[in-house]
Amino acid sequence: MLGKDTSLSFKPVYKQERGLDLAILKSNIMVASIICQIVSNTIGPYSVNKAILKKNGEVLITGDAFTILKNLKAEHPVAKILIGMAKAQDAVVGDGVATAVILAGEFLRKAENLMDQGLLPSTILKGYDLALKRATKKLEEIAIPVKPGDEDILRKSASTAVNTKITSSPETVNEFSKMALEVTKRVISEVSGKTRLKIEDVKVIKKRGGSLSDSYVVDGYVIEDREIVHPDMPRRVENAKVALLRSLELKEISGSWWEALGKNMKIQVRALEEHKAFLEKRVAIVKEMVTRLVSCGVNVALVNKGIDEIVEHYLARAGILTVKRVFLPDINRIAKLTGASIVSDIFNEDLTSDKLGKAEVVEEWKPSEKENYIVIRGCPAQGASSVIIRGGNEYALEEAERSLYDALHVIRNIKEDPRIIPGGGASEIELSKCLGEYAQTFEGKEQLAILAYAEAMRIVPQTLADNAGLDTLHILTELKAKHGEGMIWAGVNVIDGQVDDMQKIGVYDPLKVKVHALNAATDVARIVLRIDQIILAKDRKKEEEPKPETETGKKQIDALKKVYDLKL
Ligand SMILES: Nc1ncnc2c1ncn2[C@@H]1O[C@H](COP(=O)(O)OP(=O)(O)OP(=O)(O)O)[C@@H](O)[C@H]1O
Ligand SMILES: [Mg+2]
Repeated sequence: MLGKDTSLSFKPVYKQERGLDLAILKSNIMVASIICQIVSNTIGPYSVNKAILKKNGEVLITGDAFTILKNLKAEHPVAKILIGMAKAQDAVVGDGVATAVILAGEFLRKAENLMDQGLLPSTILKGYDLALKRATKKLEEIAIPVKPGDEDILRKSASTAVNTKITSSPETVNEFSKMALEVTKRVISEVSGKTRLKIEDVKVIKKRGGSLSDSYVVDGYVIEDREIVHPDMPRRVENAKVALLRSLELKEISGSWWEALGKNMKIQVRALEEHKAFLEKRVAIVKEMVTRLVSCGVNVALVNKGIDEIVEHYLARAGILTVKRVFLPDINRIAKLTGASIVSDIFNEDLTSDKLGKAEVVEEWKPSEKENYIVIRGCPAQGASSVIIRGGNEYALEEAERSLYDALHVIRNIKEDPRIIPGGGASEIELSKCLGEYAQTFEGKEQLAILAYAEAMRIVPQTLADNAGLDTLHILTELKAKHGEGMIWAGVNVIDGQVDDMQKIGVYDPLKVKVHALNAATDVARIVLRIDQIILAKDRKKEEEPKPETETGKKQIDALKKVYDLKL
């Protein structure tokens, strides 16, 4: 029952009362709607992709909401607010971006309707805040705990995230999710009773050729497209003591040693004697270099820059497995994994054994003719794992990588907060029902705002059904009826095109993702509904620079600059 003060008789009074500009609010809401429109058909398993033409001429094809938004050329502040929200959603929970954006858009559209009926934005927001609190509580009530070690739920939740991005068969999605689960098992650890799972610890390598189902997990950290520099070096070292070095090129060695070599290797050798002396000095320095490595126990050297041939020769004689041109991001990650410190200059810096990293095994690995990898296994600091993703083309590989990250995030979210809720719009319909009942406990305008929030929740199942080309009205009516009968797990089974029990078909979302998306979307509504003006900031540099119109004016300004030492 509606309260006393509710009715369509609310006049649009706030413009006069608060000085708010309805036109500005409406145009802001329109901008948000446009952004939502871009994203809305990317949600769910029957989503579409967008082709993004980048400034450098490259084309990016993706259905990932955050990737689309971060590449959007947006000038309008409201667009930037939505993009900022998407960024935060992606950074914190790594999934649910499309959900958050379409919810934000719907909250704003519903708010616009209420404003047309004369409600003030502040009243709407009060109702929205109440609704958010109740919705969060309800989500926690319906969430089901995931038992430690319940891998089936983890895999199914990962599949729910993956099947919205990759269009392969359910079997491939299943395999891909299993792979995500396997990889997390290798990098997960407990730190002071808390689960630690850093997605960055997983090394992802994309290889063209084959299909997604040929992707696999490698135990250990993989350096791609690198080989051991000399044929006489060992191909595998156990109990590795790893030195991470900037360079092993003679031209990079420090001052005094350089001078010892004759300052410049392009010296003019006037006599044979001089040439001989030069070569001897060179060999002495190289030997000293290698001796320093050997004496502190190095048996593996990973070098960021190059290595002179003569150095490679002596390293091979010393039995040190050496790899050159290892990218800095790899060096940095290996430093963390093995506990090594990066040594810039082995002559100037003391290369001591405590600067070496440890690993059970470092070895060369060539799974096919065209593939050369170096693998580091058994690192003491934490587990290391790599995934080799295969795909027919660049676009498929990049989307597969994004899907993998979504799956890894879902697993991490459930590990950190082991609770899941039904997907396929089931939780949103349950929230809509709950908030509808909750609204009845209020009177007047607040009741209208909570009802609007409740109705806005239906946008998720509605969009999922729309995108799958289903009879949305029929689906929504059936969903409402089923939830009315207490079937809280009833959602849209977009694959079979019917309402189903989400637990039965294994479509789960992590509670953490939904709660974050709901908060983020409400936040956007809160921010946008409080903006009553958009003010263009002046371009400071241009404004401050006096613009002389005449030659005399120019001279006068130059004179002033001199007198007052102005930096105009
Ligand atoms: N097989 C399925 N049937 C019904 N709904 C599904 C199915 N698989 C996933 N979903 C639903 O799709 C929604 C997630 O879709 P999607 O992954 O495209 O968007 P998002 O997670 O909000 O955004 P993004 O992944 O781009 O960050 C969730 O509501 C999820 O429950
Ligand atoms: Mg997703």
